[in-house]
Amino acid sequence: MKRGIFITFEGGEGAGKSTQIRTLAVAIRETGRDVVVTREPGGSPGAEAVRHVLLSGAAEPFGPAMEALLFAAARSDHVEQVIRPAVERGAIVLCDRFLDSSRVYQGVTGNLEPAFMRTLEKVAINGMMPDLTIILDLDPEEGLRRATARRGDGSADRYEKETLEIHWQRREAFLDIARAEPERCVVIDATRLPEEVAAEVAEAAYRAIERHDDETTEAGAA
Ligand code: TYD
Repeated sequence: MKRGIFITFEGGEGAGKSTQIRTLAVAIRETGRDVVVTREPGGSPGAEAVRHVLLSGAAEPFGPAMEALLFAAARSDHVEQVIRPAVERGAIVLCDRFLDSSRVYQGVTGNLEPAFMRTLEKVAINGMMPDLTIILDLDPEEGLRRATARRGDGSADRYEKETLEIHWQRREAFLDIARAEPERCVVIDATRLPEEVAAEVAEAAYRAIERHDDETTEAGAA
């Protein structure tokens, strides 16, 4: 059976990832394809249990390495229970955050050892590298303003509460990943209207899906 495709969405707070994923999922489903929408931390029952521990800040006093291990544990469960089975049955999987969030939030702004982070990543994803990563790029000040407006009640989560300087470092770190892995990553300017962003997101996704379909057809014919 034809393998599916795995697309991840990354970026800072308030970049509009979930809106864009919903819009893209509707558009792809209209073409008759099986689409699975999921998110991290979470996406499987085991990982959702860990999500609560991470986002409530309950693990924060134990340090960034502890948090990185918990994100990796959640990711491993999510990959094996949800992502890999969906991709193997031919689905298009759209995931809100994945390994690049760990590289950026835990690795860069958590100051963890690159070798430790690489090992964790390898174990957590177990070969399930995204075929395409869409990075929604936005000025962090605007992103936090949007995240606060969306939430309404002023109760920021564990990660939204950090200083603006940290959010700027994260933006740069996502752009560094895109520069280092241009084959996998596409950066999209998220300051524009949602429908303009959606058009670019769809273009990047369809390009990847077509390329992937051509490759699997060629491999099948060979
Ligand atoms: P979430 O409420 O899902 O927000 P967002 O809309 O920003 O995705 O919160 C997820 C938070 O967890 C977000 O601040 C980023 C953080 N995170 C990490 O620090 N490391 C990770 O590996 C992942 C997946 C998320």
